[in-house]
Amino acid sequence: MPLTQPLRIHELSPEELEVYRTLDPSRIPEHVAIIMDGNGRWAGKRAMKRFLGHQQGAESVQFVVETASRINLPFLTLYAFSLENNLRRPKAEVSFLMKLLKNYLVSNVKRMQDNNVRMNYIGRTHELPEEVQETMKWAQAETAKNTGTTLTLALNYGSRAEIVDATRSILRDLMEEAHRRGCSVEDLLSVQGGVESIDDETMSHHMYTRNMPDPDLLIRTSGEMRISNYLLWQIAYSELFVTDRLWPDFRGVHLLEGIAAFQQRSRRFGGLDTEFTDETLPDPQMPQAATPEMVSR
Ligand code: FPP
Repeated sequence: MPLTQPLRIHELSPEELEVYRTLDPSRIPEHVAIIMDGNGRWAGKRAMKRFLGHQQGAESVQFVVETASRINLPFLTLYAFSLENNLRRPKAEVSFLMKLLKNYLVSNVKRMQDNNVRMNYIGRTHELPEEVQETMKWAQAETAKNTGTTLTLALNYGSRAEIVDATRSILRDLMEEAHRRGCSVEDLLSVQGGVESIDDETMSHHMYTRNMPDPDLLIRTSGEMRISNYLLWQIAYSELFVTDRLWPDFRGVHLLEGIAAFQQRSRRFGGLDTEFTDETLPDPQMPQAATPEMVSR
Protein backbone atom coordinates (compact mmCIF):
# COMPACT_ATOMS: atom_id res chain seq x y z
CA MET A 1 0.00 0.00 0.00
CA PRO A 2 1.51 3.39 -0.96
CA LEU A 3 2.42 5.72 1.90
CA THR A 4 0.06 8.66 2.37
CA GLN A 5 2.42 11.05 4.12
CA PRO A 6 3.37 14.21 2.14
CA LEU A 7 5.84 13.62 -0.68
CA ARG A 8 9.06 15.60 -0.19
CA ILE A 9 9.97 15.94 -3.84
CA HIS A 10 11.13 19.52 -3.27
CA GLU A 11 13.98 18.04 -1.18
CA LEU A 12 15.36 16.03 -4.14
CA SER A 13 18.56 17.32 -5.78
CA PRO A 14 18.19 18.83 -9.30
CA GLU A 15 19.77 15.64 -10.73
CA GLU A 16 17.30 13.43 -8.81
CA LEU A 17 14.38 15.64 -9.80
CA GLU A 18 15.25 15.22 -13.47
CA VAL A 19 14.94 11.42 -13.17
CA TYR A 20 11.94 11.59 -10.83
CA ARG A 21 10.03 13.62 -13.46
CA THR A 22 10.33 10.70 -15.90
CA LEU A 23 8.62 8.36 -13.37
CA ASP A 24 4.96 7.49 -13.02
CA PRO A 25 4.35 8.43 -9.35
CA SER A 26 1.45 5.97 -9.13
CA ARG A 27 3.84 3.10 -9.95
CA ILE A 28 6.59 3.62 -7.40
CA PRO A 29 7.48 0.10 -6.18
CA GLU A 30 6.37 -0.88 -2.71
CA HIS A 31 9.59 -2.63 -1.83
CA VAL A 32 13.12 -2.23 -3.19
CA ALA A 33 15.86 -4.60 -1.97
CA ILE A 34 19.54 -3.88 -2.62
CA ILE A 35 22.68 -6.03 -2.62
CA MET A 36 25.30 -3.42 -1.75
CA ASP A 37 28.50 -4.71 -3.34
CA GLY A 38 31.87 -3.30 -4.39
CA ASN A 39 33.16 -1.53 -1.26
CA GLY A 40 36.47 -3.42 -1.44
CA ARG A 41 36.95 -2.74 -5.17
CA TRP A 42 36.13 0.94 -4.67
CA ALA A 43 38.92 1.15 -2.09
CA GLY A 44 41.30 -0.98 -4.18
CA LYS A 45 40.93 1.34 -7.19
CA ARG A 46 42.11 4.19 -4.99
CA ALA A 47 44.93 2.19 -3.38
CA MET A 48 43.08 2.48 -0.08
CA LYS A 49 42.48 -0.16 2.60
CA ARG A 50 39.20 -2.11 2.27
CA PHE A 51 37.78 -0.67 5.48
CA LEU A 52 37.69 2.79 3.87
CA GLY A 53 35.44 1.35 1.16
CA HIS A 54 33.03 0.11 3.85
CA GLN A 55 33.16 3.50 5.56
CA GLN A 56 32.26 5.24 2.32
CA GLY A 57 29.58 2.58 1.74
CA ALA A 58 27.91 3.56 5.01
CA GLU A 59 27.65 7.16 3.68
CA SER A 60 25.88 5.83 0.57
CA VAL A 61 23.38 4.01 2.79
CA GLN A 62 22.21 7.26 4.36
CA PHE A 63 21.97 9.13 1.02
CA VAL A 64 19.87 6.35 -0.50
CA VAL A 65 17.61 6.00 2.56
CA GLU A 66 16.84 9.73 2.49
CA THR A 67 15.97 9.74 -1.21
CA ALA A 68 13.75 6.68 -0.61
CA SER A 69 11.92 8.52 2.15
CA ARG A 70 11.46 11.67 0.02
CA ILE A 71 9.65 9.69 -2.68
CA ASN A 72 7.59 7.72 -0.13
CA LEU A 73 9.08 4.33 -0.89
CA PRO A 74 7.34 2.09 1.68
CA PHE A 75 10.10 -0.55 2.12
CA LEU A 76 13.85 -0.50 1.50
CA THR A 77 15.84 -3.62 2.47
CA LEU A 78 19.65 -3.53 2.39
CA TYR A 79 22.01 -6.52 2.54
CA ALA A 80 24.46 -5.12 5.07
CA PHE A 81 26.16 -8.24 6.49
CA SER A 82 25.68 -11.82 5.38
CA LEU A 83 26.13 -15.02 7.38
CA GLU A 84 28.92 -15.82 4.91
CA ASN A 85 30.62 -12.43 5.57
CA ASN A 86 30.54 -13.32 9.27
CA LEU A 87 32.06 -16.77 8.73
CA ARG A 88 34.52 -16.12 5.89
CA ARG A 89 35.95 -12.60 6.29
CA PRO A 90 39.01 -11.88 8.44
CA LYS A 91 38.14 -11.20 12.10
CA ALA A 92 39.47 -7.63 11.87
CA GLU A 93 37.13 -6.82 8.95
CA VAL A 94 34.11 -8.35 10.72
CA SER A 95 34.91 -6.41 13.84
CA PHE A 96 35.28 -3.18 11.80
CA LEU A 97 31.91 -3.78 10.11
CA MET A 98 30.27 -4.27 13.51
CA LYS A 99 31.73 -1.01 14.84
CA LEU A 100 30.69 0.76 11.65
CA LEU A 101 27.13 -0.49 12.02
CA LYS A 102 26.98 0.66 15.63
CA ASN A 103 28.37 4.10 14.76
CA TYR A 104 26.03 4.35 11.79
CA LEU A 105 22.99 3.74 13.99
CA VAL A 106 24.12 6.07 16.79
CA SER A 107 24.96 8.93 14.45
CA ASN A 108 21.98 8.58 12.10
CA VAL A 109 18.98 7.97 14.36
CA LYS A 110 18.30 11.73 14.48
CA ARG A 111 18.28 11.84 10.66
CA MET A 112 15.99 8.77 10.60
CA GLN A 113 13.59 10.68 12.85
CA ASP A 114 13.75 13.80 10.63
CA ASN A 115 12.96 11.59 7.62
CA ASN A 116 10.22 9.59 9.39
CA VAL A 117 12.18 6.34 8.76
CA ARG A 118 11.48 3.21 10.82
CA MET A 119 14.36 0.80 11.52
CA ASN A 120 13.92 -2.93 11.19
CA TYR A 121 16.31 -5.91 10.93
CA ILE A 122 16.27 -9.41 9.49
CA GLY A 123 18.76 -12.23 9.98
CA ARG A 124 20.19 -14.26 12.85
CA THR A 125 20.76 -11.02 14.72
CA HIS A 126 20.88 -12.82 18.09
CA GLU A 127 24.35 -14.09 17.06
CA LEU A 128 25.78 -10.56 16.69
CA PRO A 129 27.91 -9.04 19.50
CA GLU A 130 25.80 -8.06 22.52
CA GLU A 131 26.62 -4.34 22.37
CA VAL A 132 25.69 -4.19 18.67
CA GLN A 133 22.36 -5.86 19.44
CA GLU A 134 21.70 -3.31 22.17
CA THR A 135 22.31 -0.39 19.81
CA MET A 136 20.10 -2.04 17.18
CA LYS A 137 17.25 -2.44 19.67
CA TRP A 138 17.69 1.15 20.81
CA ALA A 139 17.52 2.51 17.22
CA GLN A 140 14.48 0.36 16.49
CA ALA A 141 12.67 1.56 19.62
CA GLU A 142 13.56 5.22 18.91
CA THR A 143 12.10 5.03 15.40
CA ALA A 144 9.22 2.61 16.10
CA LYS A 145 6.50 5.26 15.80
CA ASN A 146 7.69 6.61 12.44
CA THR A 147 5.26 6.06 9.58
CA GLY A 148 7.43 6.61 6.49
CA THR A 149 9.92 4.28 4.81
CA THR A 150 10.76 1.08 6.69
CA LEU A 151 14.52 0.56 6.40
CA THR A 152 15.36 -3.10 6.97
CA LEU A 153 19.00 -4.04 7.41
CA ALA A 154 19.76 -7.68 6.65
CA LEU A 155 22.41 -8.55 9.26
CA ASN A 156 24.03 -11.93 9.77
CA TYR A 157 21.48 -12.84 7.11
CA GLY A 158 21.42 -15.85 4.80
CA SER A 159 18.40 -16.86 2.78
CA ARG A 160 18.86 -20.60 3.18
CA ALA A 161 19.20 -20.10 6.93
CA GLU A 162 15.96 -18.09 6.84
CA ILE A 163 14.16 -20.96 5.08
CA VAL A 164 15.59 -23.42 7.63
CA ASP A 165 14.46 -21.12 10.47
CA ALA A 166 10.97 -20.83 8.94
CA THR A 167 10.67 -24.62 8.68
CA ARG A 168 11.82 -25.06 12.28
CA SER A 169 9.32 -22.42 13.39
CA ILE A 170 6.42 -24.21 11.61
CA LEU A 171 7.40 -27.49 13.29
CA ARG A 172 7.82 -25.83 16.69
CA ASP A 173 4.34 -24.24 16.42
CA LEU A 174 2.83 -27.61 15.53
CA MET A 175 4.55 -29.37 18.43
CA GLU A 176 3.45 -26.67 20.91
CA GLU A 177 -0.14 -26.76 19.65
CA ALA A 178 -0.23 -30.58 19.83
CA HIS A 179 1.17 -30.42 23.37
CA ARG A 180 -1.51 -27.87 24.38
CA ARG A 181 -4.26 -30.07 22.99
CA GLY A 182 -2.76 -33.24 24.44
CA CYS A 183 -2.59 -34.99 21.06
CA SER A 184 0.12 -36.03 18.61
CA VAL A 185 1.39 -33.78 15.79
CA GLU A 186 -0.02 -36.36 13.38
CA ASP A 187 -3.52 -36.10 14.94
CA LEU A 188 -3.30 -32.30 14.91
CA LEU A 189 -2.31 -32.26 11.24
CA SER A 190 -5.16 -34.59 10.27
CA VAL A 191 -7.63 -32.15 11.94
CA GLN A 192 -6.02 -29.18 10.14
CA GLY A 193 -6.19 -30.79 6.68
CA GLY A 194 -2.98 -32.85 6.57
CA VAL A 195 0.46 -31.80 5.43
CA GLU A 196 -1.23 -30.04 2.47
CA SER A 197 -2.38 -27.37 4.94
CA ILE A 198 1.24 -26.13 4.84
CA ASP A 199 1.41 -23.94 1.75
CA ASP A 200 3.12 -20.82 0.33
CA GLU A 201 1.23 -18.62 2.74
CA THR A 202 2.36 -20.67 5.76
CA MET A 203 5.98 -20.38 4.61
CA SER A 204 5.75 -16.61 3.98
CA HIS A 205 4.17 -16.19 7.40
CA HIS A 206 7.21 -17.81 9.06
CA MET A 207 9.88 -15.88 7.13
CA TYR A 208 11.74 -12.97 8.79
CA THR A 209 9.91 -10.73 6.28
CA ARG A 210 6.42 -11.77 7.39
CA ASN A 211 5.27 -8.16 7.79
CA MET A 212 6.51 -6.90 4.41
CA PRO A 213 5.42 -7.33 0.81
CA ASP A 214 7.87 -9.19 -1.45
CA PRO A 215 10.40 -6.90 -3.20
CA ASP A 216 9.20 -5.56 -6.55
CA LEU A 217 12.73 -4.61 -7.52
CA LEU A 218 16.11 -6.08 -6.58
CA ILE A 219 19.14 -3.88 -7.31
CA ARG A 220 22.71 -5.20 -7.24
CA THR A 221 25.72 -2.92 -7.51
CA SER A 222 29.21 -3.68 -8.88
CA GLY A 223 28.02 -5.72 -11.85
CA GLU A 224 28.03 -9.24 -10.40
CA MET A 225 25.25 -11.40 -11.84
CA ARG A 226 24.33 -13.38 -8.76
CA ILE A 227 21.86 -13.35 -5.87
CA SER A 228 24.33 -14.35 -3.11
CA ASN A 229 21.82 -16.10 -0.83
CA TYR A 230 19.62 -12.98 -0.52
CA LEU A 231 15.82 -13.17 -0.11
CA LEU A 232 15.54 -16.27 -2.31
CA TRP A 233 11.94 -16.98 -1.28
CA GLN A 234 10.81 -13.36 -1.58
CA ILE A 235 12.34 -12.45 -4.97
CA ALA A 236 10.49 -15.13 -6.95
CA TYR A 237 8.87 -12.43 -9.13
CA SER A 238 11.10 -9.41 -8.47
CA GLU A 239 12.52 -7.42 -11.36
CA LEU A 240 16.34 -7.38 -11.34
CA PHE A 241 18.48 -4.31 -11.99
CA VAL A 242 22.26 -4.78 -12.01
CA THR A 243 24.51 -1.75 -12.29
CA ASP A 244 28.31 -1.67 -12.67
CA ARG A 245 28.48 1.24 -10.25
CA LEU A 246 30.27 0.29 -7.00
CA TRP A 247 28.22 0.76 -3.82
CA PRO A 248 30.27 3.67 -2.37
CA ASP A 249 29.47 5.62 -5.60
CA PHE A 250 25.74 4.78 -5.46
CA ARG A 251 23.42 7.69 -4.63
CA GLY A 252 19.71 8.47 -4.53
CA VAL A 253 19.72 9.38 -8.23
CA HIS A 254 20.85 5.83 -9.04
CA LEU A 255 18.01 4.40 -6.96
CA LEU A 256 15.65 6.55 -9.07
CA GLU A 257 17.31 5.25 -12.27
CA GLY A 258 16.68 1.68 -11.06
CA ILE A 259 13.02 2.56 -10.45
CA ALA A 260 12.80 4.13 -13.94
CA ALA A 261 14.10 0.85 -15.46
CA PHE A 262 11.60 -1.08 -13.30
CA GLN A 263 8.74 1.03 -14.67
CA GLN A 264 9.72 0.04 -18.23
CA ARG A 265 9.27 -3.66 -17.44
CA SER A 266 6.11 -5.60 -18.05
CA ARG A 267 5.47 -7.77 -14.98
CA ARG A 268 3.46 -10.87 -15.80
CA PHE A 269 3.94 -13.10 -12.73
CA GLY A 270 3.88 -16.14 -15.04
CA GLY A 271 0.73 -14.90 -16.87
CA LEU A 272 0.35 -12.84 -20.06
CA ASP A 273 -0.05 -9.16 -20.86
CA THR A 274 -3.68 -7.97 -20.66
CA GLU A 275 -3.84 -7.44 -24.45
CA PHE A 276 -4.05 -11.26 -24.83
CA THR A 277 -7.69 -12.28 -24.27
CA ASP A 278 -8.98 -15.81 -24.01
CA GLU A 279 -9.67 -17.59 -27.31
CA THR A 280 -10.63 -21.02 -28.56
CA LEU A 281 -7.57 -22.91 -29.72
CA PRO A 282 -7.42 -26.08 -31.89
CA ASP A 283 -6.28 -29.36 -30.34
CA PRO A 284 -2.49 -29.52 -30.26
CA GLN A 285 -0.96 -31.55 -33.09
CA MET A 286 2.31 -33.35 -32.83
CA PRO A 287 4.75 -32.33 -35.55
CA GLN A 288 4.46 -34.92 -38.32
CA ALA A 289 7.48 -36.92 -39.35
CA ALA A 290 8.37 -35.79 -42.85
CA THR A 291 7.34 -38.34 -45.46
CA PRO A 292 9.31 -38.56 -48.70
CA GLU A 293 6.39 -36.76 -50.48
CA MET A 294 6.60 -33.81 -48.05
CA VAL A 295 10.26 -33.25 -48.71
CA SER A 296 10.65 -30.79 -51.58
CA ARG A 297 13.00 -31.99 -54.20
C1 FPP B 1 30.28 -5.54 -0.09
O1 FPP B 1 31.55 -5.04 -0.25
C2 FPP B 1 29.57 -5.04 1.04
C3 FPP B 1 29.49 -5.58 2.29
C4 FPP B 1 30.41 -6.57 2.86
C5 FPP B 1 28.41 -5.23 3.17
C6 FPP B 1 27.83 -3.86 3.01
C7 FPP B 1 28.35 -2.95 4.03
C8 FPP B 1 28.26 -1.61 3.96
C9 FPP B 1 27.60 -0.90 2.85
C10 FPP B 1 28.86 -0.76 4.98
C11 FPP B 1 28.12 -0.56 6.23
C12 FPP B 1 26.65 -0.64 6.22
C13 FPP B 1 25.87 -0.08 7.16
C14 FPP B 1 24.42 -0.30 7.17
C15 FPP B 1 26.42 0.79 8.18
P1 FPP B 1 32.72 -6.07 -0.56
O2 FPP B 1 33.67 -5.95 0.58
O3 FPP B 1 32.17 -7.43 -0.78
O4 FPP B 1 33.27 -5.47 -1.89
P2 FPP B 1 34.17 -6.22 -2.97
O5 FPP B 1 33.32 -7.31 -3.58
O6 FPP B 1 34.49 -5.13 -3.95
O7 FPP B 1 35.38 -6.75 -2.25
